[in-house]
Amino acid sequence: MGKRDLSTLEHHLFVCQGDTCKKNGAKQLRKNLKQAVEERGLKKSVLVTKTECLDRCNDKCTAVDYPAGVWYKDLNPTDAPKLAEMIETNDVWPEKTSYIRDERGFSKEMPSSIKVFYPEGKTKPEKEKKKTKKKKKKKSN
Ligand code: FES
Repeated sequence: MGKRDLSTLEHHLFVCQGDTCKKNGAKQLRKNLKQAVEERGLKKSVLVTKTECLDRCNDKCTAVDYPAGVWYKDLNPTDAPKLAEMIETNDVWPEKTSYIRDERGFSKEMPSSIKVFYPEGKTKPEKEKKKTKKKKKKKSN
């Protein structure tokens, strides 16, 4: 058992490993997601773990992004790189999303971006801050 530091975490992705999802590639999906997260340099901010049946078996394969409150559906192992990208950029992937939490609760209405809960004392991840600085420099030239 690991003792992972959670203070840098922004997304915890629970990938269903219930029977129905497993029959539809969930094991490989989880493996590919872990790899995609590592390849994008997101290991400190995105945690991928397995979970039991999420009670949305018709949506196989399913995953939930906590605390953003995004429920993913119809995932297959080849979706892993794009899903990692969506999570990194906080973009919404409507075709693969069943519900997103907003101020009213869980909704099927898709917002333009995903709300991110940054660790205490931070407003934007370091990577984003650097991008923003570069954009400002370009504008002033
Ligand atoms: S087995 Fe994945 S939602 Fe039920």
